[in-house]
Amino acid sequence: MANTILVGAQWGDEGKGKIIDVLAERSDLIVRTAGGNNAGHTVFIGPKKFVLHLVPSGILWPGKQCVIGNGVVIDPVSLVDEIDGLIKLGVKVDGNLFISETAHLVMPYHRLLDEQRELRKGKNKLGTTKRGIGPAYGDKAARAGLRMVDLANPERFEALLHLRIKENNEVLKALGAKPLSFAKVHAAYRAAGDRLAPFIASTTVLLHEATRRGDEVLFEGAQGTFLDIDHGTYPFVTSSNTTAGGACTGSGVPPNRIDRVVGVMKAYTTRVGEGPLPTENAEIGDLLHAMGREFGATTGRARRCGWADSVVTRHAAMVNGIDDLAVTNVDGLDTVETIKVGIGYRRGQERYEYVPSDIQVLAECVPVYAEFPGWRTPTHGIKEWKKLPLKCRNYLKALAGLSDSKLKIVSVGPARDQTIFV
Ligand code: GDP
Ligand code: IMO
Ligand code: MG
Repeated sequence: MANTILVGAQWGDEGKGKIIDVLAERSDLIVRTAGGNNAGHTVFIGPKKFVLHLVPSGILWPGKQCVIGNGVVIDPVSLVDEIDGLIKLGVKVDGNLFISETAHLVMPYHRLLDEQRELRKGKNKLGTTKRGIGPAYGDKAARAGLRMVDLANPERFEALLHLRIKENNEVLKALGAKPLSFAKVHAAYRAAGDRLAPFIASTTVLLHEATRRGDEVLFEGAQGTFLDIDHGTYPFVTSSNTTAGGACTGSGVPPNRIDRVVGVMKAYTTRVGEGPLPTENAEIGDLLHAMGREFGATTGRARRCGWADSVVTRHAAMVNGIDDLAVTNVDGLDTVETIKVGIGYRRGQERYEYVPSDIQVLAECVPVYAEFPGWRTPTHGIKEWKKLPLKCRNYLKALAGLSDSKLKIVSVGPARDQTIFV
C-alpha cells in the first residue's frame, strides 16, 4: 500500500479507527499527526474493544511501528495511562511506539483554562472535550509551550515549569480558579517523563529513513475536516489542522512522499459539541440512539445526528484531495424507509455547492435534499459489494459521486471482517 493519508470528511468520529485498523495490515508505519487525547478511535478485534486516544490504532497489529508525530499535543500522564492500559490488554508497545521529541505537552493549566473559557462562554460554549487542547496549541503558537525534549531534560523541565506555573497561576487566580501546586505537577510529569523516555525519538528522521527504504506509511487522521482550525466551522472547531496538509507538517514527511488520500465518512452525519450541523435531524438521531449507537468514545456525550450532507463531503474532497472514499456505518440506515442526502444549500436566492465560510451565513442555509429509497434489510453480514442490496449500492454510488470521490471501502459493522472493498 502506498503512503496514505486518512482523514475524516465530516465532524470527527467517522469510523477512522476501524478503517485505519483495516488498512494498517498492509502498512509498515502508522503515524498520528494532529490533535491530542480529544480523539477517541474505536477498534474491535473479535469481541475485544479498544479505544485509542493518543497511541496510533496500528499498535494493535503486532510488529507495526507507530509514531506520535510532532503535530500532536501530548498529555504525558494520560499517555502513560493509555500505554499501561494497552499492555494490560496484551498489546506489545515497547519497541513499537515512537514519540516525537518536538511534540508539545498538554499541561494541567491548559485543562483548567479550557474549562474556565468554556464556563465563561456560558450558552455560547464550544463544547470542547476539556482536555486542554485549545490552550496547548495556543501556547505552541505563542512560543510558550513545553515539548517532549524539555520533559526529557529534568533540569530544564524544572526551570521552565516554574516559570510556566507562576505565570498561569496568576491567570487562573484572576479567573477565580484554584492555582496549581508546582510540586504536584512536577512530580506527576517527572514520573511520566521517566516512563516515556525510552519512546522519545527524532521521528522526522525515523520517517525519512523509513520512506527512503520504501516502507509504507499510513497517516492516522484525528478529528475531521470541519473541525480543522482553518477549514472548519470556526470557531466551533478544534485547534489543529485536521485536514490532509496537517499530516505533512505534523510529521515532517514532505508532500511529494504522499501517494493517496482516503476520506472516511459515515453514511449519515454526526457531530459532538456545539456549532452548525445543517442536516441535523431528530428522527434519525432518535433511531440511532435507540440502537445504542452514537455516543462519544472520549466523553460519552450523545452525538448529534443528521442526514449525509454532500455539500460537506464535496468540500472535504476539495480541501483534502480525497482520492478514495470509505463509507462507514452503512448498517445504521438498514431500517430507514426514505433516506435523504443534502445536495446543496439555499439561502434566499443564493445556492451553495460548498460550505460557506461565515458560520452566520451557514446558520441561515437550508439544505436541499435528494431522496433515496431505503433497502430495509440487514447488511451487517454481507461481505461482497455485489451482494449488497441494489438500493444500498445505488445510495452509496450516488453519495460518492455527489462527494466528488471514488467509492473504495464500505463498512457494514464495527468488526474487521465487516468491510467491503469496492
Ligand atoms: P473515529 O473517531 O473516527 O475513529 O470514530 P469513533 O471510534 O469515535 O466512532 C465510530 C463508531 O462507529 C465506533 O463505535 C465504531 O466501532 C463504530 N463503527 C465504525 N464503523 C462501523 C460500521 O460500519 N458499522 C457499525 N455499526 N459501527 C461502526
Ligand atoms: P476523533 O479523532 C469528534 C470536537 C469537540 C468540540 C470541538 C473542540 O475521535 O474523530 P477540543 O477538545 O478539541 O478543543 O474540542 O471538537 N472534537 C471531536 N469531535 N471527534 C473527535 O475526535 C473530536 N475531537 C474534538 O467535541 O466540539
Ligand atoms: Mg472518535
